Amino acid sequence: MIDENRVEAGALSATGVPAERVLEEVRELRASDAPTHGGRLFAYVYDPAVPGLDELAAAAHRESAHVNGLDPTAFPSLLAMENALVGAAGRVLGAGPGTTAPDVVGSVTSGGTESLILAVKTARDAHPEITAPRIVVPSSAHAAFAKAAHYLRVALDVVPVSPETLRPDPAAMAAAIRPETVLVACSAPSYAHGVVDPVTQIAAAAAEAGVRCHVDACFGGWTLPYLRRLGEPVPPFDFAVPGVTSISVDLHKYAYAPKGVSVLLHRDATLRAPQYFAYADWPGYTMINPVIASTRSGGPIAAAYATVRHLGDEGYLRLAAITRDAVTGLADAVRAVDGLRLMAEPESTVVCFTATEGGPDLFVLVDELTARGWHTQPQLSYAGLPASVHLTVTAAVAPRVAEFGPDLTDAVAAARAAGPVRLPAELAALVGALTPEALTPDLIVGLAAGLGLGGEVGSDAGPLPERMALVNTLLDAAPSALRERLLVEFVSLLQRPSWAPS
Ligand SMILES: Cc1ncc(COP(=O)(O)O)c(C=O)c1O
Repeated sequence: MIDENRVEAGALSATGVPAERVLEEVRELRASDAPTHGGRLFAYVYDPAVPGLDELAAAAHRESAHVNGLDPTAFPSLLAMENALVGAAGRVLGAGPGTTAPDVVGSVTSGGTESLILAVKTARDAHPEITAPRIVVPSSAHAAFAKAAHYLRVALDVVPVSPETLRPDPAAMAAAIRPETVLVACSAPSYAHGVVDPVTQIAAAAAEAGVRCHVDACFGGWTLPYLRRLGEPVPPFDFAVPGVTSISVDLHKYAYAPKGVSVLLHRDATLRAPQYFAYADWPGYTMINPVIASTRSGGPIAAAYATVRHLGDEGYLRLAAITRDAVTGLADAVRAVDGLRLMAEPESTVVCFTATEGGPDLFVLVDELTARGWHTQPQLSYAGLPASVHLTVTAAVAPRVAEFGPDLTDAVAAARAAGPVRLPAELAALVGALTPEALTPDLIVGLAAGLGLGGEVGSDAGPLPERMALVNTLLDAAPSALRERLLVEFVSLLQRPSWAPS
């Protein structure tokens, strides 16, 4: 029976929980997370390991958390910080006074995905006469382009990358441009393998066709210029390249700001114009939004501002040098192990490796590394590219590099001894025969339970099994449409309200 006088449910307590206790709850919940600091997590987080930086960012966030980016005239502090961040990003990416891109403008968004959705929206809305717009992307482009295409009803023309170079052929990119193409995109670098696409040729082809060219530098846009200054052979990718019309760079990645901040830059204000949404046809305030969100917290912007101000150009150069050395050390560690090979020679801050013929099962290896305290990111096989292990390397990894090699050797030996994962025959048969449409709720719950995924309603089990090799092997065996559907269903099993107060 529901007691109608009680409203206690989930996070809503009946009488309010004392502040100290609430913080304890948060800390208790956080205890089961992957470690965000300490240099052993190779995805999701970007840690420069600079003493005091977290505290500074948190203090700046606190100052501006309740400021609303909805109206820059009411909160000019936010406008000033946004413009300062756009100026910094432009400078890092070859724009500003004295460059070939003196008129660059931009906006602060909530992240890479929002920047890319807006880049696609802006390109689409620049051509209202094109009724069935399309964009051209390499197959290595971030999934956010597919999300943008899906949200915005823009067709996605995907150009495969070479299995050797992991880059698209610029001629194939050029050939994919059609009269309805509104945007050509490429990455600097790609997330999966960390390679820089041939931006110069792709941008030239786009310009020749009169089409915009977006460089997705969300991941590495803040490190590549510093790596170049350190003498690394970074190919041209920024506004110095003719034909590049927009660039995205995430400050919550290698600018080391807390989550929630990316910058989308356009070569000039005319190119940016279709990005805005304005609406005056209602009785409330006229809405003018440069980005997707309307109300926006000033917290992440202030935190990013404080981070960029504090680290400064020299700080980023120093962090890039530390990161580069860590990348070199990790890549050497991979090269030294029989049975593994690098997917590509590192040219940014990613180390990505796969197994050679007769090498260990990569998914078992990932579990063995996890058991040794190294949290790596498995990548499933795709369109002729083998499954791989991705390491996003940040400065915090540097002090750990010497420990990685021996643990990798050890983990490979353990993975070899354990042998490859064999999908139980009934699961293998199921994956072979299943289509996304044939998945029923019962089948999903049964599969989730069989794989140890904590989807069972009422169960207190953690959301994931300790070892993920079986899950990854199953997903790897599934075509991408089935992978998507299975993961959507598994995640939606996890996302349900907790009614009971803790
Ligand atoms: C190249 C690239 N583009 C876009 C994104 C999307 O960024 P976000 O996760 O901030 O939305 C990422 C994230 O890793 C990325 O690596």
